[in-house]
Amino acid sequence: MTHLLDVAHFLEEGPALAIKPAPRDDTAPAVVFDDASKVFSTANGEHAVALANVRLDVRRGEIFGIIGRSGAGKSTLLRLVNGLEKPTSGAVRVNGVSVGELDERGLVTLRRRIGMVFQHFNLLSAKTVHDNIALPLRIAGVPKAAIEKKVSALLELVGLSAKRNAYPASLSGGQKQRVGIARALVHDPDILLCDEATSALDPETTQSILALLRDINRRLGLTIVLITHEMAVIREVCDTVAVIEQGGVVETGAVWRVFGAPQHDATRALLRTLVHDLPDDLAARLKPASADALPRDATDVLLDVRYTGANGHDPDIAALSAALAVDGGRVSFVHGGIDRIQGHAQGRLVVAAQLSGAEPEREAGALASRIAALIERARRHADHVEVLGYV
Ligand SMILES: Nc1ncnc2c1ncn2[C@@H]1O[C@H](COP(=O)(O)OP(=O)(O)OP(=O)(O)O)[C@@H](O)[C@H]1O
Ligand SMILES: [Mg+2]
Repeated sequence: MTHLLDVAHFLEEGPALAIKPAPRDDTAPAVVFDDASKVFSTANGEHAVALANVRLDVRRGEIFGIIGRSGAGKSTLLRLVNGLEKPTSGAVRVNGVSVGELDERGLVTLRRRIGMVFQHFNLLSAKTVHDNIALPLRIAGVPKAAIEKKVSALLELVGLSAKRNAYPASLSGGQKQRVGIARALVHDPDILLCDEATSALDPETTQSILALLRDINRRLGLTIVLITHEMAVIREVCDTVAVIEQGGVVETGAVWRVFGAPQHDATRALLRTLVHDLPDDLAARLKPASADALPRDATDVLLDVRYTGANGHDPDIAALSAALAVDGGRVSFVHGGIDRIQGHAQGRLVVAAQLSGAEPEREAGALASRIAALIERARRHADHVEVLGYV
């Protein structure tokens, strides 16, 4: 994606306009995707469906995360919000205004309400930190004294007052992104769009930028829409997450809910990076779960047990253990742990339950029904129980 073009769009704004924005309904969503689709026509006359019938509400004041594989349509989704792209059908409404129907003047006004932060910062290397932040204000024709006041306040906000006269080349990645964030806030926007804003940063710097975004979100009441391929970023700062797959929303909801009990394969695939994989020795011994061909020499069934924290209860491990101890069989907790995510107990435990019983019982059918019964009982003490395989 041509990020420089994006910046050019933001800078070619022309003088400040006298159009008064419509009064804002604070209870209405900040952004609404109303059956929005985007089809690109490529040079050879083909059509590429980037987004198909997207319905999403971004609530005012929340941090909304968008995840999905490369090419899923995340950036396109974001570009529909600030009118860098227009929906082919359906609508995207920002503060109740349909973005696709705005003329150039309307878009200028809209883009002042929406800040944007980029992965590669997009700073002008020949300008100082101060001048990079001041530039959009200068272009908007803001008086010099007001510019100085605003830039100083923003430098303070992002913790870069000391770097006021430095050039981008002398800044660290994190500092550059702080400048990018300050620049995005010059017009006091009420929405901030971040496209992979931390993807070029090391983990520690990522943490500090996320803390800054969280701080801005709380202090300024800013709605933030954030794209990332880093699941840990979503878990760290987002309230809500939407999973995009091939242009469609396959799953959306509170982060703790979606991450705790992902419903769609695409979500599970993305989350695999977060979930601790099985210890190598165990993985090597694991025989796949297939109900019609239970391995005859298997001694234990390995279960993936999850707590979503949905009921606000902490897991009762003793009860779970008792439920799994079939016919006095041994139960061992092999792997995992319980975390707290935004106040909810969330956990994943890998449990081995012994398949005791006489040989005749080893008939696949009998064993399968016993395992099904065992899972049924275990589900009373967890939110999700699934057979991982056999050892
Ligand atoms: N201007 C364009 N012209 C034609 N096709 C486009 C254009 N912009 C995006 N696409 C296509 O739309 C689809 C979605 O692209 P998009 O950039 O939104 O994906 P993304 O999820 O942001 O991917 P990434 O994680 O790699 O940034 C892709 O198949 C892409 O090739
Ligand atoms: Mg992208």
